[in-house]
Amino acid sequence: MLNRSKNCNDYSRTYFIIDFTRKTNDLLYKVKDIKLAKKGKLSYEWARNHMQILDNTISRLKKSQPFKNITLGFCLQITKETAVLLKGVKELGASVVACCANPLTTQDDVAAFLASDGIHVYAWSAETKKEYDWCIEQVLNHKPNILTDDGGDLNIMVHNNKKFKSLKILGATEETTTGAKRLKSLEKNRLLCYPVIVVNDAYTKHMFDNRYGTGQSTIDGYLRAMNLLFASKRVVVVGYGWVGKGVASRCHGMGSKVIVTEVDPIKALEAHMDGFEVMSMSQAARIGDIFVTCTGMAGVIRKEHILKMKDCAILGNVGHFDVEIDSQFLLKKSRSVREVRPNLDECVLYNGKKMYLIAKGRAANLIATEGNPPEVMAQSFSNQLLSILYILKNHKKLPNQVMKVPQEIDRQVAVDALAAMGIKIDKLTKEQISYMNSW
Ligand SMILES: NC(=O)c1ccc[n+]([C@@H]2O[C@H](COP(=O)([O-])OP(=O)(O)OC[C@H]3O[C@@H](n4cnc5c(N)ncnc54)[C@H](O)[C@@H]3O)[C@@H](O)[C@H]2O)c1
Repeated sequence: MLNRSKNCNDYSRTYFIIDFTRKTNDLLYKVKDIKLAKKGKLSYEWARNHMQILDNTISRLKKSQPFKNITLGFCLQITKETAVLLKGVKELGASVVACCANPLTTQDDVAAFLASDGIHVYAWSAETKKEYDWCIEQVLNHKPNILTDDGGDLNIMVHNNKKFKSLKILGATEETTTGAKRLKSLEKNRLLCYPVIVVNDAYTKHMFDNRYGTGQSTIDGYLRAMNLLFASKRVVVVGYGWVGKGVASRCHGMGSKVIVTEVDPIKALEAHMDGFEVMSMSQAARIGDIFVTCTGMAGVIRKEHILKMKDCAILGNVGHFDVEIDSQFLLKKSRSVREVRPNLDECVLYNGKKMYLIAKGRAANLIATEGNPPEVMAQSFSNQLLSILYILKNHKKLPNQVMKVPQEIDRQVAVDALAAMGIKIDKLTKEQISYMNSW
């Protein structure tokens, strides 16, 4: 159980103990303002109405209450879409505890709604680094049986902090590319303590969420931050992975001249064949109007590139961490910095040039707007839900390794997605099956 009094003292700013007349009367949470719950409920309902795939999966499993007596710990972006997953697993019998996977992105109204609904939420927008870590610790203090992470911070805390070594975790799931890489490095060093399913590796996750979801929400975030015309501008997309492909195609659709920079020759060739200009960052830096980093790699736009850029270039990132652009150089070494619009800093360099930085180099599609749209998150979170269930049923026979989502889950999500959209497809005929097997 939680050491409530200690936690209360540490964080007296906003702290609530809810006295529900429910199974337990000491549900705990910490959110910005519980009075926002009504607004958050509307947001949640809007998302749920557009997440039919996930909704259908929850309905299908409801009768069997698969998560009865199980505590599920989440470190995800606290958005209206995540609320549908968290409410869903609670409806399936779980006790649910959650924090946010990014210190800035919590939708406070959604967090308030979840807390008012009996979910232990420790999340508010604009957490300090210390507060962010504290929130993750609170999730672990609830002794969760299975973890769901986005970026790896929750799982890394279990492995790094002695306090949590005794936790009996059956397994975990990971939402994104960056988290998967961090966990694979733990596995390589034989340090991984339980099996992890990388939901990002499911086709029905990365091909849709990373590409179409982040593609669209990046445009949304940039537009809200800058409200300038995309058409005719040179947009430099850094990294042509799943996210980069989505961003490039959406910018092209908006009438931009898209330039791609890459380090992988195959991806670079693909971008070229897809019709985009491909060049090095030092070339692109000179001509780009708008920059979008989506690599998951540190230091892809550095001081030397920034100094070459045109006056009034706009820089932003949609990769998981704020390490892709040298935002420290822009924010700390400029002659002046001022926020000229919400989530848009004007940095006047010592050479007199103005640079604009969106969301201080953090994920612009999460901070300057609301993250990925509900329809794609329904697919990602159906994968999450079915993978959590898979771990619960199979953990005894799973190795302490980073694994792909089982193929049957990926296919099931695709089947559910097509059904939810009312799309029918053909089946192989008997003749086709025997033709296929005749080689
Ligand atoms: N903001 C969001 O909503 C969101 C959603 C999904 C994924 N992500 C994050 O976005 C990042 C990218 O994800 P992805 O699925 O596209 O990964 P990916 O591995 O498919 O693609 C990354 C690409 O970046 C390229 N790259 C690496 N270093 C580079 C450099 N210095 N210059 C140019 N290119 C470089 C790689 O070669 C690769 O092609 C990750 O951090 C991931 O966690 C964010």
